[in-house]
Amino acid sequence: MKTQKIKNWLRGLSPHVILIIVCALWLLPTFGLLVTSFRPVQDINETGWWKILDAPKGEKEYNTYCAECHGKDGKLIAEADLSNPELVQKYRRSFTLIVLLKKEIDGKPHLGELEVPDENISANIATYMRRISGIESRPRFTLSNYIDALVGYRGNTTYKEDCAAGTQAVDLFCDTRDLGNARGMGRAFLNSLLVAIPSTILPILFAAFAAYAFSWMDFKGRQWLFALLVGLQVVPLQMTLIPISRLYAQLGLNGTFLGIWLFHTGFGLPYAIYLMRNFLGSLPREIFESAYLDGASSWTAFYQLAIPLSLPAIASLGIFQFLWIWNDLLVALVFLGGEHPVLTYQIGNMVTSLGSGWHLLTAAAFISMALPMIVFLSLQKFFVRGMLAGSVKG
Ligand code: HEC
Repeated sequence: MKTQKIKNWLRGLSPHVILIIVCALWLLPTFGLLVTSFRPVQDINETGWWKILDAPKGEKEYNTYCAECHGKDGKLIAEADLSNPELVQKYRRSFTLIVLLKKEIDGKPHLGELEVPDENISANIATYMRRISGIESRPRFTLSNYIDALVGYRGNTTYKEDCAAGTQAVDLFCDTRDLGNARGMGRAFLNSLLVAIPSTILPILFAAFAAYAFSWMDFKGRQWLFALLVGLQVVPLQMTLIPISRLYAQLGLNGTFLGIWLFHTGFGLPYAIYLMRNFLGSLPREIFESAYLDGASSWTAFYQLAIPLSLPAIASLGIFQFLWIWNDLLVALVFLGGEHPVLTYQIGNMVTSLGSGWHLLTAAAFISMALPMIVFLSLQKFFVRGMLAGSVKG
């Protein structure tokens, strides 16, 4: 009975509603991660991101115990101005504060009728006093996580603070040159781009040539060759790591960008050719025939007809290939390693060497997510068309 009811209820929901719920379910944690990446480390360690709108720490306790006499801003008693940094500095620690509160003023308890707060509450009140006095003005949002991740800073405090104090733990210049630091995400971002762009363009370019030949040019063994290509798609990438890295060692290509471009091109090609051929092959034959009749060469037909017509397929292939390479760790680890660290490699390093410093990871995750999102959103239109074009053959 009950399951029937649930089923009916589910059927009543429109697909749109379900889609929105599913999107919300996974967008919420993403949003949380984004908010977290902009929070100061101490806040991240103390409270969850959904608490960002809460009152500052200790405000509640301060209001119950102290606001009555000292005022909301701590300035009400002129000779005991709690917004005076020098005074507050003396009561930075909770036990000094407790001692003070236990002392009587003119024979009466400092807090009047209220009991002296315990260790924890005093600590929170001390924190709040530091905040209203301006000794410790921690902003709610900061770019520190991003800056630290970009320059690869792994000190106890932030890069900015340590640079200002002149006590930075790693040898950095404390200026814009640090953006290129080999341990930072900034450099890794560039490396990822350097890997991904040629590795996306090259296979698609060659695949377009090959697909054109497979669909519109007659040559011997065409079917056999195409069957072989389809078969090549099942070769697992891991199987080729050893032979190729040995070959690269002989050619001196290990740890070079050229090596990784060639690898990705080789692995991208079979699927790219397959998809492009299906797409080009589904175009009406008459277009090409009339072009040939008009005296166009194969080359003209290729770049004036085939390429513009297959833009949707090229775009969707481009997105897939780009995303796969951008997120790839295995190939980058084996063929580039630490020589030219890419984003995935650098993120991996952050996790293992930091453990507790995962606040950097939040920023690093967004740095590495930014570009795929832009690529996806800007090519989305083509993407849907390309998907349809690949599946529904005319
Ligand atoms: C019943 C009123 C009252 C309450 C409640 C009260 N204070 Fe006070 N407080 C005073 C008065 C009055 C003085 C001024 C004493 C003096 O210096 O003559 C004072 C002084 C102080 C001073 C300055 C001590 C110094 O070294 O000069 C601090 C710090 C202070 N209070 C902190 C607190 C905190 C924190 C709370 C809340 C937990 C609190 N007070 C609650 C009345 C109060």
